[in-house]
Amino acid sequence: LDTRQLSSDIVQWFHDNKRDLPWRQSEDPYHIWISEVMLQQTQVDTVIPYYNTFVSRFPTLNDLAYADEETVLKTWEGLGYYSRARNLQKGVREVVETYGSKVPDNKKDILSIKGIGPYTAGAVLSIAYHQPEPAVDGNVMRVLSRVLLIDDDIAKARTRLLFENIIYDLIPETDPSGFNQGLMEIGALVCKPKQPKCDVCPIAAHCLANEEGAQLEYPVKKKK
Ligand code: ADE
Repeated sequence: LDTRQLSSDIVQWFHDNKRDLPWRQSEDPYHIWISEVMLQQTQVDTVIPYYNTFVSRFPTLNDLAYADEETVLKTWEGLGYYSRARNLQKGVREVVETYGSKVPDNKKDILSIKGIGPYTAGAVLSIAYHQPEPAVDGNVMRVLSRVLLIDDDIAKARTRLLFENIIYDLIPETDPSGFNQGLMEIGALVCKPKQPKCDVCPIAAHCLANEEGAQLEYPVKKKK
């Protein structure tokens, strides 16, 4: 496995093929945070108008921190999973009180914030702060389990740590944001659960599942 080539193929493809999504116009960690919270349980197409409205109503972290919860929930209306909005505002208020309104740029502090777990922390650190930190979601696990034939159960909490360790070995210092978003984007557009488009995949040449014709056997997800 040529890890350098794999990493640079992901980054190169992302820069040539990325969708023009509104949160990709910003490197404000607060904006990235909002987009990642919205995207965790909601499809991209649904998120786009909500993200745009939310950011125009609460353009800065302080705007959201000092807003009424009621106004925030009103803006979130229709997106569902309202605890996401409540936790986001609680988290933003913590950043105002504890970190002088600057989203922390280190793992320990950012992980201490309400509503920020390992995925969101990694996404903000890599996309907004250009740090080589993994952001492992379901798409990323599907892509890497196929490329590397990893058959660990993705329903198990500790499997995420395995994928994080793999990404620490792959993620380039020169473009951690492009690398993580490239993996997400390949998962969303190419390496789909049921109809993977291996014929157009930028990393098919590195993919062991493609070589074996075993794409649909990965990722492994055992029933509880
Ligand atoms: N899904 C999760 N994060 C995403 C992002 N930054 N862009 C597109 N889809 C995503």
